[in-house]
Amino acid sequence: MRRCAWLLVLATVPLLAGGQPGRGDLSIAIGGLCQDYLEACGCGGRNAGGLARRAAMLTQWRAETPGAKVIIEAGDIGQRTDRLPVIARCLARLSVDVVALSAQDCEDWSKLGPVLGAHLLASTCLTPPVGPPAAGQPEVPAARTVESGGWKVGIMAAFAGRLAEADLADAVGGGVTRLRADGCQVVVLVSHLGSELTASLLAKVPADRRPTVLALATDSDFAESPAERDGVLWVYQARRARSLSTIDFTADGSRTARAALVEEGPHDPVMEAWIDEYYRRVRDGESTASPTAAQVTFPRPAACVSCHGRAVNAWRTHAHAQAVTTLEQRARDVAGCMGCHDETFRRAGVRPPASGDRGVQCATCHDKLEAHLKAPRTSKPTARDKAGCESCHTTENSPHWEYQRYRESVVGACQGRPQPRLAQPPATRG
Ligand code: HEC
Ligand code: HEC
Ligand code: HEC
Ligand code: HEC
Repeated sequence: MRRCAWLLVLATVPLLAGGQPGRGDLSIAIGGLCQDYLEACGCGGRNAGGLARRAAMLTQWRAETPGAKVIIEAGDIGQRTDRLPVIARCLARLSVDVVALSAQDCEDWSKLGPVLGAHLLASTCLTPPVGPPAAGQPEVPAARTVESGGWKVGIMAAFAGRLAEADLADAVGGGVTRLRADGCQVVVLVSHLGSELTASLLAKVPADRRPTVLALATDSDFAESPAERDGVLWVYQARRARSLSTIDFTADGSRTARAALVEEGPHDPVMEAWIDEYYRRVRDGESTASPTAAQVTFPRPAACVSCHGRAVNAWRTHAHAQAVTTLEQRARDVAGCMGCHDETFRRAGVRPPASGDRGVQCATCHDKLEAHLKAPRTSKPTARDKAGCESCHTTENSPHWEYQRYRESVVGACQGRPQPRLAQPPATRG
């Protein structure tokens, strides 16, 4: 993993299961929470994640890691049916051993089952899916085991399903006990329950019935340090498949965990081509099915120039006017992203013109512009307030957001003073 910034390493600790003669080392890699992100979105300057980059990282990990290997995907595959086939294909290429489904995945089991089945991916969920499987579909198994190099690893997943918390604790304890009795030296529980509920759940499980590793799905961007808590090794999964955790077990009975953001390094070229192909089809579909930008009418900046020339000029050099160019240069020009990055798309789901004024425009923030254009002196436009900004500047997409600082930049431009890019404070982790 030379080229990846490994962030966090946990000290070596004794392995509960103990060593056994004749067995080599075991390494487990846990990634996932793909959500809909085939590749990194890059919002807020955090260019982490992406299936093709994770694939390259795992290839390197395989080459550099001796002994048995098991790869677990922490589910949450996403909600977009049109992306499932490409995601499943990529997961198959990653040689994922087990996909630990989230509640959302199980609700979509009827769509997911055939796709994942076709790629021979096992799925696991601890609590029953919200609905029974559709006719002809397999039941989702409660646990999976993977055998490699003399090791047997049991994998379970927990999410808020139909079970009450007390029953969930029994189910976890029971599941772990069964897997251990079945010969598993290591049991991994993937939790989609959130940190608090997971901790209180584990507290209800007797120490000898707890899993070896708890992989917690989080809603944060940053790989958090693996931690030992009550004899269980916690590893944290960043959202949008931005992190990768690995845990090394040695036959003489120790374990070491690392977590990193999938932030730098090469892309797997085959996967990259599949993803390119996916976006190319999306783009073709949009351009044949949609009206053109010219058919979407709203007051564009050109309509303001005659009276607010300096404001328009300052806006044209502002980040908001570059928002589509940013996507074109640094990401993909796709529907999932345009809604916040372009006004034509926000209004009508239509791609903006190839050049000229586009991005976040006057009409994104100022309402009642038609009336204002008819009677500029008497009819004043409205402007977005803080909440209006934060519909796009979410915690996820704008991690450095500070309302006052950002507002000064916007209002400065509206008053005709060109604004430089805001200097961003160093990213904080946690
Ligand atoms: C024909 C001239 C004219 C055009 C065209 C025009 N405006 Fe104005 N605008 C004015 C005048 C005059 C004012 C009032 C200035 C003042 O009160 O000092 C104003 C004020 C505003 C204000 C401030 C409102 C407030 O509460 O003080 C905004 C915002 C604004 N215009 C936006 C726009 C936008 C966006 C466009 C283009 C879609 C536009 N204007 C086009 C003349 C124009
Ligand atoms: C429709 C979505 C949307 C709304 C509403 C919106 N923004 Fe933005 N904003 C963006 C996007 C997208 C970018 C990034 C553009 C880029 O970098 O290409 C951005 C960038 C910015 C920047 C530039 C930051 C930098 O690094 O220089 C500032 C400042 C800003 N917004 C302030 C605001 C304020 C203040 C409001 C509310 C008055 C607001 N925005 C409303 C989408 C929005
Ligand atoms: C919910 C609204 C929203 C969506 C959806 C969204 N963005 Fe953004 N994006 C923003 C905002 C707001 C910013 C400005 C962040 C800042 O400067 O604080 C931004 C900034 C960016 C930047 C510039 C980051 C920088 O620091 O220069 C890139 C690149 C980007 N987005 C890519 C994407 C991609 C790719 C997608 C789709 C996968 C996407 N965005 C979807 C709101 C959004
Ligand atoms: C990201 C949101 C946003 C965009 C984009 C935006 N404005 Fe504004 N504008 C504001 C806000 C917020 C204010 C302050 C409103 C207030 O003070 O109540 C403002 C104020 C103004 C004012 C009054 C300035 C003053 O204090 O004298 C004018 C004029 C104006 N905008 C015109 C424009 C024009 C023209 C465009 C497009 C070229 C534009 N704005 C784009 C959010 C925006």
